[in-house]
Amino acid sequence: MANNAKFTTRLGVIAATVGSAVGLGNIWRFPYEAGMHGGGAFLLIYVLFVLLIGVPVVAGEFVIGRYTGENVVGAFKKLKAAPLWHSVAYIGLLSSLLILGFYSVVAGWTLEYIYQAATGFGGAASQEALHAQFDSFTTSGGRQIFWTLLFLAINFFVISRGVQKGIERMSNILMPMLFAILFVFCVNSLFMPGATEGLAFLFHPDFSKIDVSTVLGAMGQAFFSLSVGMGVLMTYASYFSRSTRLISTSVTTAVLDTLVAVMAGVLIFPAVFSFGEAPAAGPRLVFEILPAIFATLPAGSLWAMLFFILLFVAALTSTISLSEVVIAWFVGEWRWSRGKATIVYGIAVALLSSLSSLSFGPLAGFSIFGMNFFDLLDFVSSNIMLPLGGLLIALYTGWKLPRRILRAQLSAPGRDPDAPSPLAVRLIIFSLRFICPLAILAIFLWGLLPH
Ligand code: TRP
Repeated sequence: MANNAKFTTRLGVIAATVGSAVGLGNIWRFPYEAGMHGGGAFLLIYVLFVLLIGVPVVAGEFVIGRYTGENVVGAFKKLKAAPLWHSVAYIGLLSSLLILGFYSVVAGWTLEYIYQAATGFGGAASQEALHAQFDSFTTSGGRQIFWTLLFLAINFFVISRGVQKGIERMSNILMPMLFAILFVFCVNSLFMPGATEGLAFLFHPDFSKIDVSTVLGAMGQAFFSLSVGMGVLMTYASYFSRSTRLISTSVTTAVLDTLVAVMAGVLIFPAVFSFGEAPAAGPRLVFEILPAIFATLPAGSLWAMLFFILLFVAALTSTISLSEVVIAWFVGEWRWSRGKATIVYGIAVALLSSLSSLSFGPLAGFSIFGMNFFDLLDFVSSNIMLPLGGLLIALYTGWKLPRRILRAQLSAPGRDPDAPSPLAVRLIIFSLRFICPLAILAIFLWGLLPH
């Protein structure tokens, strides 16, 4: 069933798409992945992936979504695609569940940290004290589950209210605010004693650090951060109007998203070196460094509260998009009411997230391939399922979708589809046909070789 909901304004289109892209992936995941994979070398490869693969696959998802006006499963049905291509949809639906399974745990951490900021971090200001604080929080099963479930309750409440009202209004006001406050803190970080070392770590590529895990990690981060490869952007594009320009929307989204990630790096790494934290500290990195930065500022608790509130909202606009894929599928294909879809999916996500929220405490001993449950959900979804989805989307749009449709969707509205396409359109099509599939396949094969 085609949906008739549309975003009301052009700003709404950009804001909702950027709202999906900008989230914990930029501010929490990017710095810690860069920290684990050699800093500058990781950043360089990451940016290359965003440009060469990310932007084209984003545009490809937009094309399918807007052309069909359908949810992920409905889209491939309407296109009468062979069963192989329907797997894009099911990979996407499963990815939504797996990503929400760890993302909502970290989103819950933002709530705990709003609370901690309000109570002055229990007096902790030094790196050691904040380290201990993070440990005691993440190993406590009860508090982990509580904040995870509270976050999910908020998420699914917003979801139940529908597309436009819920998503558009919030992201229009708060995303620009997040941007502004990040900028202020970046400037602050530039005056820290570790600034030179931190910036060198982030911007000076050390090519000896590049190995398959750097490349696979950078590819996964590019997909994750752009929200691409699983049908989120397809679903959003089904709410776009004919006048939305798909290529410029993908480029704008990628530029803003990358800018926020780089700003997060500029904010975090000078502080990492000033406070003597290890860049490779993992998921805990940002949650220990940010409060340590705020502790050095006048009215630090207020800054901390404001920052974690905005981070929470950034996370929320991302989880809304992640949830919407599955909700749109229940409503479109199963003819469920939005309320029923919200409740059923909410319960499924709550069960999985509760389990993964225990990964640092009661379930810390449980490991598969050397990863705890939380890390496993992240690795499988970001580094494997999203690139796999992206590979199939690139192959479908590049080789299967009639070229006339692809060109017409990518070009400005009203343009004669038989006239020669502008360079941007040709570049996107070339990448969808050749660069994306070859690069993604090569990296997968490289990852499978014995190391
Ligand atoms: N991109 C978001 C972030 O960086 C997370 C996200 C939202 C996402 N929707 C997605 C990731 C879809 C992958 C796929 O925080």
